[in-house]
Amino acid sequence: MADLVKEIEKRRTFAIISHPDAGKTTLTEKFLLYGGAINLAGSVKGKATARHAVSDWMEIEKERGISVTSSVLQFNYGGCCVNILDTPGHQDFSEDTYRTLMAADSAVMVIDASKGVEAQTRKLFKVCGMRGIPIFTFFNKMDRDANDTFDLVDEIEKELGIATCPINWPIGSGKGFKGVYDRNEKAVFLYSDTEKGTKEGQVERIELADEDALIAAIGQDAFDKLQEEIELLDGASAEFNQDEVDHGQLSPVFFGSALTNFGVEMFLNYFLQMTSSPLPRVAEGEVIDPMKEPFSAFVFKIQANMNKAHRDRIAFMRICSGKFDAGMEVLHVQGGKQMRLSQPQQMMASDRHIVDEAYAGDIIGVFDPGIFSIGDTVCAPGKKITYEGIPTFAPEHFARVRQMDTMKRKQFVKGINQIAQEGAIQIFQEISAGMEEVIVGVVGVLQFEVLEYRLQNEYNVEIRLEKLPYEHIRWIENPTEIDMDRIIGTSDMKKIVDLKGRPLLLFVNSWSVGMVLDRNENLKLSDFARN
Ligand code: G4P
Repeated sequence: MADLVKEIEKRRTFAIISHPDAGKTTLTEKFLLYGGAINLAGSVKGKATARHAVSDWMEIEKERGISVTSSVLQFNYGGCCVNILDTPGHQDFSEDTYRTLMAADSAVMVIDASKGVEAQTRKLFKVCGMRGIPIFTFFNKMDRDANDTFDLVDEIEKELGIATCPINWPIGSGKGFKGVYDRNEKAVFLYSDTEKGTKEGQVERIELADEDALIAAIGQDAFDKLQEEIELLDGASAEFNQDEVDHGQLSPVFFGSALTNFGVEMFLNYFLQMTSSPLPRVAEGEVIDPMKEPFSAFVFKIQANMNKAHRDRIAFMRICSGKFDAGMEVLHVQGGKQMRLSQPQQMMASDRHIVDEAYAGDIIGVFDPGIFSIGDTVCAPGKKITYEGIPTFAPEHFARVRQMDTMKRKQFVKGINQIAQEGAIQIFQEISAGMEEVIVGVVGVLQFEVLEYRLQNEYNVEIRLEKLPYEHIRWIENPTEIDMDRIIGTSDMKKIVDLKGRPLLLFVNSWSVGMVLDRNENLKLSDFARN
């Protein structure tokens, strides 16, 4: 029992988010270096040829140079067992990001210091906010000319609406980058890029009080500026407050350079100390203690055909409580069936390995014969635990999908259903129509391309997509009280049903929603489907 608590307490599970190109992959790679998980930087993603080695799951990612799918990595460092959840950087996958955040206990937001808050940072941050988890900010690329430091921090506060607390402070940037001042230690750590790609190499430390040595190292001008800024900072910035960090109200801020491996270890050390071990989760109103048995987990992601040679489908689960043993019988709550989880595995860079045991906080991927859905709970038989489902985002783009070759109906139905089950798309049908023609809804338009690509490549089915003008979707909350044929609609309204047969309405114009509500007294509408 004591061992169980010890194991779980050392877990740190976080998601890493950024606007594309801010340096998320480079930073992750350096983390792994410290964890001894890889020997040489570049194993995760080197230049050109080896790009995207980790999440190299779909051709489309390579073609576009974006990370569409997310991966999970684990390493040990400083007495902690760290689980990093990579999130897709592209805006069209905010739903995927949201699900990944559901599995995390905190988030690290990487920002390019020469660019500041970018469009995607804003979007992802909003998603983070919905989760209310601690958010840590890492300003990267300080070895390049960066924006004014106070402006950068201000921008976070104003644009993202979260208070900040700089833990370290940069001295210059670009060619004039001298290092960072650690506000806790009251010491300056001098920049050197000799560590590039390795974890070895000493970082020189000079106490702030040792003025002569500091002036000799960074020059009088930088020294004077630093003194001034420290004074300003101490007077103006929020004090560190762990409770506010825990509630996602205060973001600890760090500066560094992932590429030259400067400030990364400092960040890692502070981060692991400031972020929490696995947080309790709620199942049907009851708070489940992560440190105790029984084992429980929920599915936050389903990924098909990760390995083309095997045509497999992996369900990713976040363990929420207790310990998982590979041989154990578990209950799949939604399916009402007891089973053994097949080939439980963890990801390590580009490899997967089979795990014998895993603890709360860990992520395991299990072979999914097509039974799991996003949000499902799996637990030790005995006590039935049902975690709250993961809400589905309302799709904002719709298209009618037709298969080109009617002989391939079976593959089409299978493919489109499987992709929908993974949560990549949502499928709808016209009331009383068959599966020959379906309406697909997506949160981001790139998902249409992914759908087309995957149906062609994985199921050998060619489709034609015809974009529809609808932008607003409303599920009917009280279908039993409503006669679908009698709804008085507007000219831009369409009646459809989702995969589970729930009726809903599509609208082109947002004002039509209000009009239809006015015209049909008993009608209750909702912009998300209750699970
Ligand atoms: P992402 O995962 O957030 O999309 O970013 P990624 O790590 O791929 O980094 C994007 C580019 O920024 C890469 O250059 C990377 O080398 C560079 N970079 C990352 N961190 C730093 C940093 O601290 N300083 C500087 N100067 N550059 C940094 P690239 O040329 O696009 O790719 P590559 O050819 O180097 O792989």
